[in-house]
Amino acid sequence: MNSTSKIALVGVALAFVAGTSHAAPASENWENSCAACHGEDGKAQTKQGKKLKIRDYTEAAVQAEMKDDEMIKAILDGYLENGKERMKGFRDEYSEQEAKDLVAFIRQLKT
Ligand code: HEC
Repeated sequence: MNSTSKIALVGVALAFVAGTSHAAPASENWENSCAACHGEDGKAQTKQGKKLKIRDYTEAAVQAEMKDDEMIKAILDGYLENGKERMKGFRDEYSEQEAKDLVAFIRQLKT
């Protein structure tokens, strides 16, 4: 390998590191904004989770009930049940892409 291509490789590696450390990963967003209610593991065995009777998102049956587009909508705009808001939306904090990443994160909580 000549020195020009070595320098190019270092540049690619640096760009990668900078790019990945820029936006917080979904797991971090989940911990910061969601885990207090839904639990870090998604089982909602927290004080809030029990109080609000949140479903266990590790259960396959619960996962099957939830549709990706509804989950994204719930995360961005809030979740209503019989006209009552059960969860506020996070549009001020998260982009649509971040909401999608959170949905992907929730999907892999299934046991
Ligand atoms: C104040 C408590 C609270 C916080 C914080 C919270 N949620 Fe919720 N969430 C709820 C409640 C209550 C429900 C409705 C009950 C249920 O799903 O069992 C709900 C429902 C949902 C649903 C289900 C939507 C559907 O289609 O059924 C998703 C997805 C969701 N939350 C994701 C998140 C994500 C991601 C975050 C963090 C960005 C978050 N929640 C933060 C309380 C909360």
